Amino acid sequence: ELPEPFRVPLPTPPVLAPSHQDETTDYYEIVQRVGQQEIVPGTTTRVWGYEGTFPGPTLVSRSGRRTVVRHRNELPVPTVAHLHGGRTPADSDGYPIDLVLPAGGGTARSYGHHADMVGDVRHGVRDYVYPLKQRAATLWYHDHRMDFTAPAVWRGLAGFHLVHDDEEEALGLPSGERDVALMICDRSFAADGSFRYPARDPSLTGEPGVTDEYMDGVLGDVTLVNGAPWPVLDVSASLYRFRILNASNARRMELALDRDDGEDEGENDAPFVQIGSDGGLLGAPVRHRSIPIAQAERFDVLLDFSAHSPGTEITMVDRLADGPTEQVLRFRVTGPGDGAAARVPERLADMAEFESLHEADATITRTFSFERAGERDGVEMWTVNGELFDPERMDADPVAGSTEIWELHSDPAHPIHLHVVPFKVLSREEEDPKPTDAGWKDTIDLVEGERARILVRFDAYPGRYVFHCHNLEHEDMAMMANFEIR
Ligand code: C2O
Ligand code: CU
Repeated sequence: ELPEPFRVPLPTPPVLAPSHQDETTDYYEIVQRVGQQEIVPGTTTRVWGYEGTFPGPTLVSRSGRRTVVRHRNELPVPTVAHLHGGRTPADSDGYPIDLVLPAGGGTARSYGHHADMVGDVRHGVRDYVYPLKQRAATLWYHDHRMDFTAPAVWRGLAGFHLVHDDEEEALGLPSGERDVALMICDRSFAADGSFRYPARDPSLTGEPGVTDEYMDGVLGDVTLVNGAPWPVLDVSASLYRFRILNASNARRMELALDRDDGEDEGENDAPFVQIGSDGGLLGAPVRHRSIPIAQAERFDVLLDFSAHSPGTEITMVDRLADGPTEQVLRFRVTGPGDGAAARVPERLADMAEFESLHEADATITRTFSFERAGERDGVEMWTVNGELFDPERMDADPVAGSTEIWELHSDPAHPIHLHVVPFKVLSREEEDPKPTDAGWKDTIDLVEGERARILVRFDAYPGRYVFHCHNLEHEDMAMMANFEIR
């Protein structure tokens, strides 16, 4: 039986306090461990969490301030922490075989990893160093262990990491209680409250992947926002900022708003005022009636409740779903605004760098095709250009600072993510990008049979990074490849 929607308040993950700070750096400590959490009311779910919670604690950093996160692995399997959207040197980026073995002991091989495919392995603890020389943006961190990312994230290994800067602060955007990060994902539960996931090997130390019927990805029948099923958020009649993340393994969504009187909030107007994308603020707000959001994408939006009288209920829905996951979250207007309500600024960030990125500057066009093909140990796989992920094979070798066009072909739908370098969407099929492609992106939502071109400037640290499908089951079934910035 599914939990009843709109019974529990929206949780806010706690902000993690630094363990210490010095002139240049904030130091954090995170223990990855098993926790017990009440997700479905009346039951207890065993989660794998950063600090034992799902979502993990939120980290809040200042752009350009070095951040060092010491992760200690007290889980029963190896882990790899990746800061999604981070401009991070390769040795701290969480390359999928740079394992942190359990503090309890064991070798990579004893946890099911090929001895000849072992990266920079640590025992129990690793310090990840993030320079954060990047714009204000909504980043998130999650597990990235080769072949086992999907079940580890499903069990709870995901959290927010927000970066602020002066430019953002000067805009007077909604802040404090009116700046809300929403981690939306679907999950399934067994009757006792435990997560249900069709892993071939639930110990996650043997055979990777899911049982055959889940090749396309694992969908849940309960929608969680910040770890609560179909929660409610009480709002005042004023302007709010929501940083929306689709943290699902395999579910694409199209978010829209329904009013309690049955009207589509977007009918006469476009209620989502987008102010930021994966890579931070846009130059100017863009209005949308609905927001298509693939796995790992972020949309930073303003929603204005000021015209609503107390008692109004507005439900965020997913237009692509049917059944229970059609509903996502409910806003309940409980009181008047405080009069000091923020306004939507007409201009947001300086996009000179983004605008100076021109197709003509590209030195090479590379083509990557994302399709089902190949097999490993008799199991079907997902591939990039027909190849399974192999840490030994370099798939692209961009020169630091150079600009390239990457042409991406998708069959069926795949959200494609590049580590370390944000990009600009140039075109989809021969058409202009969609309004929701605006700004710096690190993940592009490709629908079935689509061909898109992106423009990437490899303005980052030298070293080896991955790009991959962010359908996490596809990723675990080898739809990942390497690039090395030279
Ligand atoms: Cu969000 Cu390579 O990951
Ligand atoms: Cu995919």
